[in-house]
This record gives sequence, C-alpha cells and structure tokens, in this order.
Amino acid sequence: MIKPCNSIITGTGAALPDQVITNRDLEEMVETNNEWIVSRTGIRERRKLEAGLSNADLSERAAREALSRAGVDPAELDMILVATVTPDHHTPSTSCILQARLEAFKAGAMDISAGCTGFIYALSVAHQFIYSGAYRKVLVVGVEILTRFTDWEDRSTCVLFGDGAGAVVVEAATEESRGIIDYTLKSDGRGARLLYVPAGGSALPASHETVSNRMHYLVMNGNEIFKFAVKVVENTLFELLQKVNGKPEELDMIILHQANLRIIDHIRKHLRLPPEKFPVNIDRLGNTSSATIPIAMHEEIMAGRLKEGDLVAMVAFGAGLTWGGVLMRW
Ligand code: COA
Repeated sequence: MIKPCNSIITGTGAALPDQVITNRDLEEMVETNNEWIVSRTGIRERRKLEAGLSNADLSERAAREALSRAGVDPAELDMILVATVTPDHHTPSTSCILQARLEAFKAGAMDISAGCTGFIYALSVAHQFIYSGAYRKVLVVGVEILTRFTDWEDRSTCVLFGDGAGAVVVEAATEESRGIIDYTLKSDGRGARLLYVPAGGSALPASHETVSNRMHYLVMNGNEIFKFAVKVVENTLFELLQKVNGKPEELDMIILHQANLRIIDHIRKHLRLPPEKFPVNIDRLGNTSSATIPIAMHEEIMAGRLKEGDLVAMVAFGAGLTWGGVLMRW
C-alpha cells in the first residue's frame, strides 16, 4: 500500500551551456582517445560554461523554466534550495544570489552540499518542509560548473565532468495519489578523500603554493568510487522498494545519477529491466553531478516518456561519501 503523498513536482526546467567539448577535443589536450573514453565511461561529449558566466546564471535559466512550467510566480516561493559543490562563492550561498535575481523576496534560501547526491538531499529537504506543513512552494535546483574545478592536465578526471543545471518546483499537493512517497539519505565520511578538492578551504587555504601544485582541482580515486557506486545504488533501490513492498519491475522509470554508463548498464542488467526505463544523458553531458537527475527528469518529461501515474525511483551517489534515493508517483 502506498501511503498518501502530499508533495508533488509541478514544473521542471534545465539549462546547458552552448559550448560542446568532444572526446576529440580532449585528445588535443591530454593523452587520451575517444575509444577509451566511450568504452570506459559512455561519454561522447560534455558542455562547458563560457567565461564570464557562473553557476547562478545557469541556475537562473533552469529555475525560470521550472517556475514558468509550474505556473508559479517567484514571489510565491517559500524556500529556494540549490544543490551544488561548485557555488559562485564560498559565501554567500548561490541560492541567495538566485533569490535576488528571481525577486523571490518571501523565500528563505540555502545551498546544500552533498556531492553528486545533492539533488536527492535537496529534494528530500523540500519534501519534508512541505510534508511538515511549514511551506507550500519550494524551488530545488541541482547545478554544477565542474569544468572550473577540473584539472585539464589530469586525464583520469577531465574526461568525466561537465556543466549543467536542472530545476524543479515542489508544491503541496491537493491530490493524494501522486507525489513523493519516501526517501533515503546516507553517508560515510570515512571515504571523504576518495573524491575531494584538497585546497581552498579552511583546512588548506589557497596560496601560491597550493595553486602551483594544482591542489584547487578535483582529485578522485575512480576505482574505489566505482565499486562503492555499484553496491549502494542497488541497495538504495531495494530499500526504497521495501517501503512500498514493491518489486523492481513495478518501477516505470529509474533515474540514476549519471557518473558512468557502465554503472547504469550493470544495475539494469542485474535487475533484468529494459533500457527504456533508465534515462541516459551522460553520453551527451558527461557527469554533471547534482544536475544529472533533474536534467534527466526534465528531458524525460519533454520527450513525453515520464507520465502522470508513473512510479519513479531516483538514486544518486557521490563525494562525501553520500548516497540516497527518492521514490515518487509522478
Ligand atoms: N584516457 C586513456 N587512458 C586512461 C584515462 C584516459 N582518460 N584515464 C585513465 N587511463 C588509464 C589509466 O592510467 C590506466 O592505465 P594503466 O593500466 O596503464 O595504469 C587504465 O586507463 C585503467 O585505468 P582505471 O582507472 O583502472 O580505469 P577504469 O576502468 O576504472 O575507469 C573511471 C576509470 C574513472 C572511468 C572509472 O573508475 C569510474 O567511472 N569511476 C567512478 C567515477 C565516478 O563516478 N566519479 C564521480 C562520482 S559521482
């Protein structure tokens, strides 16, 4: 039995930079090749935000589209949540910059940092605000400008990441048969150094030395993250399904974080489910971290593949380590 839901996504939006970086472009920059990148990751190209624009610019575009599709005036928003690890500044939050641009002056605003699981965390927080009766309209943005934190001399990371933003408007629902059913949020900080930016924070402030040692860029242990991801994605899916006594085949759509096509394929084959149930954008966008799931959701809606009444699971994992999922009836 699915319990009554009371928070639904009423509008989605996405924003992508115009500049495309292909695998062939990367061949000119580091010792790599198209065949390696496609066979090991599924990525063919990614987007890069042009100089002069920032996280808030992409967030604003995605947010305005989601608000317009939801038919919600920014002035009605109670809260703005921006999930990102690549904010405009350490402080203030990008959500505050976005709040001013949208003139959403009734809304509180905060950023949520949970690695690539950021959107799942933020959506769960939005749901709780609504479920508790505190708020009725919450804007959630998942956005990353990872190309600004990528070491373009490190072939083990620079081929993986891209820039993008996705946004959703979450509202208190009048219908009880639709909306967020449940969520699960997890972390294991013992893996903090498997994916991190060594310098630029209070542990190791930026200095000439840290910059010349390229310590303000992302460092990753790809193999360990891969093993962790395969394990937690499937566990999270089963944990979500348990909450409704459901089986994998009852899911109409499974939107997984887009970190590596091999991870998505592995899960799909193990669960013996058809590819149509697993949206993919990593081939075109690379890993856009907190933005992969809201962008995929928006793409599926625009293509008419995600329909009212569908049972949808979303699962992500990332730096922290963090992982989690949301189950909803669309
Ligand atoms: N081009 C060509 N060769 C590359 C390369 C590149 N861009 N990057 C690494 N290699 C080489 C390595 O140096 C290594 O060479 P060696 O065998 O001579 O030492 C070889 O390819 C294999 O490297 P390995 O790291 O074992 O590859 P892999 O199959 O594990 O794939 C990742 C690497 C990063 C694609 C994979 O581990 C992954 O996707 N991990 C998860 C990453 C992730 O999800 N991060 C974000 C979390 S949200």
